[in-house]
Amino acid sequence: MINTMLFGAAPYVLLTLAIAGIIYRYTMSKYTWSSQSSQFLENRTLFFGSFPWHYGIMLILTGHIIGLIIPSVILGWNSAPARLYLLELTGLSLGFLALFGLLTLIYRRLTNVRVKALTSGWDVLVLLILLIQVVTGLGNAILYRWGSNWYAGAAVPWMWSVLSFQPNVDFVSNLPVVTKVHIFNAMLFFALIPFSRLAHFVVINPYKYLWRPYQVVRWYRPRTARTEHLVQYK
Ligand code: HEM
Repeated sequence: MINTMLFGAAPYVLLTLAIAGIIYRYTMSKYTWSSQSSQFLENRTLFFGSFPWHYGIMLILTGHIIGLIIPSVILGWNSAPARLYLLELTGLSLGFLALFGLLTLIYRRLTNVRVKALTSGWDVLVLLILLIQVVTGLGNAILYRWGSNWYAGAAVPWMWSVLSFQPNVDFVSNLPVVTKVHIFNAMLFFALIPFSRLAHFVVINPYKYLWRPYQVVRWYRPRTARTEHLVQYK
């Protein structure tokens, strides 16, 4: 029953929320699709957090997407033990790289006075969801080997069953709790995108930040009493 609710019904509620939210945000406030750069407030720790986080997580998500689209290729690759170890070791290293970056970003957001002044409850929630996602992802990889195999064999068929509107929770109902938290939390992550600074994840533009030279970004956002004092630093 609980499995049916979490993995048979909730995916549709949360995905509808995500799609409706994206359409609403696009129509109502088109120019706010940014992560609201705080680079002009603090740059050094941002650099050491942002690069490992974005490179680590984007490569891991690319792996998840490849597994979703062509699971047979992953299973074929994994059929030789050496290649399986290489894939798992790469995933694990990228996971730790992302965790290091994320912890650095969290530390910066909570300890730098100026950045903290601009951190809302939503931001803290987003960081918490991301932290849960990365820690449970690493939990999957470390506790339940070989994740890339059972991802292709259990999680991927479940995702396709949801995407084809014939949800089959049997694929995931016997997975460990850590994995279930990882999957459910991913859906929360997608539902939160339109309502938070994660919105920058949807637009293609920010990806060029990974290789273009740094520049200072200005926000499009009405001044409030809370942010007024920061204007003098520009
Ligand atoms: C927001 C979306 C997601 C993020 C950010 C994310 C992040 C991560 C991270 C950081 C890892 C550890 C690195 C690794 O060893 O590969 C991981 C592993 C894993 N994730 Fe996710 N994940 C997401 C969505 C999902 C979903 C939707 C599923 C399944 C339906 C899933 C299933 C797995 C599995 C099975 C592993 C273990 C892989 C292995 O051991 O090789 N993830 N994920």
